[in-house]
Amino acid sequence: MRLALMAATALAAGLMTNATASRAAEELNLICSADVVICEMMQQMFQKETGIQVNMVRLSSGETYAKIRAEARNPKTDIWWAGTGDPHLQAAAEGLTQEYKSPLLGELNDWAKKQAEASGFRTVGVYAGALGWGYNTDRFKQKNYKEPKCWADLLDPSFKGEIQMANPNSSGTAYTALATLVQIMGEDKAYDYLKKLNANISQYTKSGSAPVKAAGRGETAIGIVFMHDAVAVAVEGFPVKSVAPCEGTGYEIGSMSIVKGARNLENAKKWYDWALKADVQSHMKEAKSFQLPSNSKAEVPKESPKFSDIKLIDYDFAKYGDPNTRKTLLERWDKEIGANAN
Ligand code: F6P
Repeated sequence: MRLALMAATALAAGLMTNATASRAAEELNLICSADVVICEMMQQMFQKETGIQVNMVRLSSGETYAKIRAEARNPKTDIWWAGTGDPHLQAAAEGLTQEYKSPLLGELNDWAKKQAEASGFRTVGVYAGALGWGYNTDRFKQKNYKEPKCWADLLDPSFKGEIQMANPNSSGTAYTALATLVQIMGEDKAYDYLKKLNANISQYTKSGSAPVKAAGRGETAIGIVFMHDAVAVAVEGFPVKSVAPCEGTGYEIGSMSIVKGARNLENAKKWYDWALKADVQSHMKEAKSFQLPSNSKAEVPKESPKFSDIKLIDYDFAKYGDPNTRKTLLERWDKEIGANAN
C-alpha cells in the first residue's frame, strides 16, 4: 500500500515535471520594434495559431540593439521582429544574432533577400518604407505656414519650436534620418543642417513615430517620420498630410533576427517562418501598418506610400549598418546636437 502510494506520488511528480517542461518549451520571448498595435496583433495571431505563449516587449530599434548587446552573455530574448534594418545589420556584424535560412526566403522581394545575404543570413527584411514627414494641415492653415516640400524648407525660422523628430540613439527612424542627410549632403554639411534644424525642434522623442502622432493631435506642426507612419495617423482621421522630400530621401528595410543563444530556438524559427508568410503580412494593414511587405505575394495596401512615387537615394546599408559608422555618427550627434537640444 505504502509502496503503491510512493509510486503514485513519484509518477505524479514526474508528470508535473514533464508538463512544466513542455509548458516552458512552448514560449517565445519577443522584442517588437514596430508600432504597438501591430506588435499586439502579431502576438495574438501567432499565439492563436500555434499555442505558443509569446512574451512580448515593445522597444524602439536602437533600444533593442542596446538591450541585445547588454544581454549577449545571457540572452533573455529569442527573436527581434521589426525595427529599422541598420541596427539589425549592426547586431549581425557583432555576432549577436544567429544565422538562419528560412524556407520562405525564395518568396521574398529582392531587397529583403539582399538584407539576408548581406548579413550572412543573420537577419532578413520583413517590410520597407521611405522617410519623410507629416504635417498638421489645420495648424498650417491657422498659422499660415507654407508647405515644406524639401529638407531645406524645414529650416524656415517660422517653424521655430514646431518640429519634432526622434533621438537617433533610441530610434531607428531618427538614425535613418541622420544617415540619409549624411548621404545627401556629406557629413559636415549634414551636421550643420541638423544644428540649424535644432532651432526648430521642440523635442527629440524616444520612439520614431511619436512625432507624427503629436502632429495629429495638434501638439506640433511637423513630425519627421517614415511616411507610412504619417499615413497611418491620417487614416485614423487626423488632419495630417505626408511629404516625400524633394531632394530625395532614405528608406528602411525593416528586419527580423534570431538572437544568438536563444533559449527557445525552435519557437523562434517558427515565428520567423510564420512572419515571412504572405497571408500573415497581408494582415498588417488591419493594424494600420502601411509598410511595403517583404513577401512578394503579400497584398500591398492601397494606402502604402509607393517607392515609384518617391525620389529615393541609393541608401548604403553596408556602410550605415556597420557598428563603427553607428558609433561615429551618434557620438557626433550627441556632442553637436543632443547636448544643445532645447
Ligand atoms: O511605426 C512603425 C515603424 O516606423 C517601423 O516601420 C519602423 O521599423 C519602426 O517603427 C521604427 O521605430 P523606432 O524609430 O522607434 O525605432
